[in-house]
Amino acid sequence: MKFFIDTANIDQIKEAYDLGILDGVTTNPSLMAKEGISGEANIIKHYKQIAETVEGDVSAEVISTEYSKIIEEGKRLADIAENIVVKVPMIKDGVKAISHFTEIGIKTNCTLVFSAGQAILAAKAGATYVSPFIGRINDISWEGMDLIEEIADIYENCFFDTEVLAASIRSSKQIKDCALAGADVVTCPLHTILGLLKHPLTDIGLEKFLSDYRKLNG
Ligand code: G3P
Repeated sequence: MKFFIDTANIDQIKEAYDLGILDGVTTNPSLMAKEGISGEANIIKHYKQIAETVEGDVSAEVISTEYSKIIEEGKRLADIAENIVVKVPMIKDGVKAISHFTEIGIKTNCTLVFSAGQAILAAKAGATYVSPFIGRINDISWEGMDLIEEIADIYENCFFDTEVLAASIRSSKQIKDCALAGADVVTCPLHTILGLLKHPLTDIGLEKFLSDYRKLNG
């Protein structure tokens, strides 16, 4: 399972990348706004910096919602760097745009996916990744992990190549659950990745090893 970080914050991307476990980055307009990035030139410059910081795929989301505009914007984003993946919302014009990007060899991430039916459409259009939003499904008291499992099963049954990229992850436990449910990729904030490190017995065990060492070695 690949690990992507879900942020537009360069320091956090570097911190995760330096751990040697990072396979890529996902962003969205809200995450870009959180970093105060505005204006097309600045947005492009920022995506370029992210794409240069990591080796893996970097999802850059279009803000257009009409087919021809999505195509124009997506091509501009794809031109920024080879590892840019154009993130397109699950709407009718978006599906059509993903089909076109697939034909011309531009990688895509179909975002804002909340049902298995939507995931089938994304895969039929040839999306490189599909992004089901686990946390937002849980927010309305459904079970996000069931959707990951369903999509993973369907893709396996139908031999779709699209990778299941579990998004809107809010806890470290969900990362483990995604691995069990068959996700190909998880994208999550830095603190949920670092949360995987934590176990009290590790801390207690390390303290004991070090204190025993110090007893004899000063
Ligand atoms: O990748 C999508 C993600 O950024 C959404 O997360 O926490 O806003 O639902 P959240």
